[in-house]
Amino acid sequence: MEVLKNKKTLQDFIERQKEMGKKIGFAPTMGALHNGHLSLYKEAKKENDLVISSIFVNPTQFNNVVDLEKYPRDINRDILILENSGLVDAVYIPEVIDIYPEKTESIHYDFDGLENEMEGKSRPGHFDGVGTVVEELFKQVQPDNAYFGEKDFQQLAIIRKLVEKKKLPIKIKGVAIYRADSGLALSSRNKRLHEDRREDSKVIFESLKKVNEWFKTVTIPEIKERIREIFDHQRGMQLEYFMIAEEETLKETHTIYKDKNYRAFIVVIVDGVRLIDNIHLK
Ligand code: PAJ
Repeated sequence: MEVLKNKKTLQDFIERQKEMGKKIGFAPTMGALHNGHLSLYKEAKKENDLVISSIFVNPTQFNNVVDLEKYPRDINRDILILENSGLVDAVYIPEVIDIYPEKTESIHYDFDGLENEMEGKSRPGHFDGVGTVVEELFKQVQPDNAYFGEKDFQQLAIIRKLVEKKKLPIKIKGVAIYRADSGLALSSRNKRLHEDRREDSKVIFESLKKVNEWFKTVTIPEIKERIREIFDHQRGMQLEYFMIAEEETLKETHTIYKDKNYRAFIVVIVDGVRLIDNIHLK
């Protein structure tokens, strides 16, 4: 596996691969890698000649300096994980200057309102930061296919919108949420939970599965009430939000139409750790 540590080495590498006509699959990350990230590369390996990873803790998508500084970083461990997976051909590890040659600032985007829903409400400017770094990484890596996890479903929808609006020649592929045996969605934040709290957190996905069962016969206000009740009884857990939204617009819905797709979204704070999850409703 090639380790590409700046823009110039990446560009030389990409140029060589493009000359050979290689189809490139790419999935960006912020490191602290786990099996959820590897599931993106597993998908990418099936559909491309070459798989590229990137690791960059993007300063412009954090809402405050403390969060940015607290973000777990262990680049040598990450490189080892990618190398041992046998899934990745090259990893790009840029410095801030490679992504932000002038000011470390985000571009302001209009994602047709997607940016104002859910996570956008609690994290102002977050999706401008994500859009800025992903657009720049796309420009540098020039992938044919790019892979994003459904765990961050709003991010996936926003990247699809970015590609559509900027008419980028890249196919965006959503990858199913990778879960622990307990059902808990894998996240680098799970490491901050004590083992027994991690076990308790399986209630998050269990509730989402119940929502899927109720969805056909129970009204949405009643479903919301039942979810509220479940989390009222969980010690040390606060339900930040739960909602059912249309997949296309991410707007919360109170009525179900047959020809639309819906998804339930949840955010729970467990001992100060913010856990997010979602499920497609059928
Ligand atoms: P990061 O949180 O490192 O996630 C990188 C990618 O891995 C995202 O597409 C995310 O949805 C996916 N992912 C994380 N956990 C997953 C799981 N359990 N199952 C499936 N996919 C999972 O998301 C970011 O970084 C950044 O915002 C980034 C897109 C890299 C821009 O900075």
